[in-house]
Amino acid sequence: MNVSKTEIGSFHDQTVWLYTLTNDHGVKLQVMNFGATLTDIETPDKHGKTARIVIGAGHFNDYLEEGDAYFGATVGRVAGRISGGNFSIDGTAYQLPLNNGKNTNHGGPDSFDRQIWDSHPFSKTDQVGVRFDLFSPDGANGFPGNLNVSVFYSLNNKNEWHLHYEATTDKPTLFNPTNHVYFNLVGDLEQTVDGHRLTLNSRRFGEINPDGTPTGRLIDVAGTPFDFTKGASIGRGFTSDHPQNKLVNGYDHPFFLDKTGDRADAVLEEPSSGRRVAMTTTNNAVVVYTANGLTDRIIMEGKPMEAHLGITLEAQMMPDAVHHEGFGNIILRPDEKYEADTVYQFDCDNI
Ligand code: BGC
Repeated sequence: MNVSKTEIGSFHDQTVWLYTLTNDHGVKLQVMNFGATLTDIETPDKHGKTARIVIGAGHFNDYLEEGDAYFGATVGRVAGRISGGNFSIDGTAYQLPLNNGKNTNHGGPDSFDRQIWDSHPFSKTDQVGVRFDLFSPDGANGFPGNLNVSVFYSLNNKNEWHLHYEATTDKPTLFNPTNHVYFNLVGDLEQTVDGHRLTLNSRRFGEINPDGTPTGRLIDVAGTPFDFTKGASIGRGFTSDHPQNKLVNGYDHPFFLDKTGDRADAVLEEPSSGRRVAMTTTNNAVVVYTANGLTDRIIMEGKPMEAHLGITLEAQMMPDAVHHEGFGNIILRPDEKYEADTVYQFDCDNI
């Protein structure tokens, strides 16, 4: 296993470093200090052919032109929409800047994904990785509290990409980060993700309003195109008449995780390549977004984007949790240390 670094650009007079992590089974992962962003994962398919399985680019400039796609980015302080951009903690009301209609999405404008993080590569006997640190000052994008955040990316010989998050604050605040990686397991973005198969250990999904905010209602997936409990193709959500699919042209929904048995929380598979990704997380939800908003105005690594070219599995606490009973606690207090873990394990007949 190895970790190395190269310079790929500069942003606000700071160097943009790209780190390359490799393991002994031909798996490669790249991550940069701009946005603590995953830029590449390459794995072999069932014929032994190695290819990129995420949307990303080795050119830094592509990330400055991507609009609000958040390719592979660390998203925070709070992933997903905060309805009205407002919330109260212990009776104190806060108003955040709005960047998504009347709501605040993915931490607000110029958030974690647009910052240069401090970065420190590490190498241990069983893993290689990079630790990213960011200081988010009191009042950043309207959020209270001086927040110190660390995100550890690592790769091991079990073909696991491990994400570990830590944070502390000096005032009660909200914290619910995620990673916004888009998978396409075909390799080389030749096809949309219609033919991918998804299995979720989730019997309830969060209904959304037309503006993408959760209504607060959890709906039983049985008998709907949201039932992935036994595995189903993603494509059925692109053609379905279900009003929740029609609203967003696919999926852009949180699934509340059952956390039953030893099963992974999510498994994504692509039959032609034989590739699989199994995700497990300490969070209570996964947001499945089928890249409904991508258009050819965005070019990544020379390729024009299109709708449904990727699928995210955003491990997080339920979006807009601060406004809905039962969605989980995302308040971080000064006497606590935030910790969360998400693991994506790559598999196919050959690796
Ligand atoms: C959101 C989408 C949004 C996308 C890109 C997803 O996590 O749920 O509504 O379009 O991120 O910003």
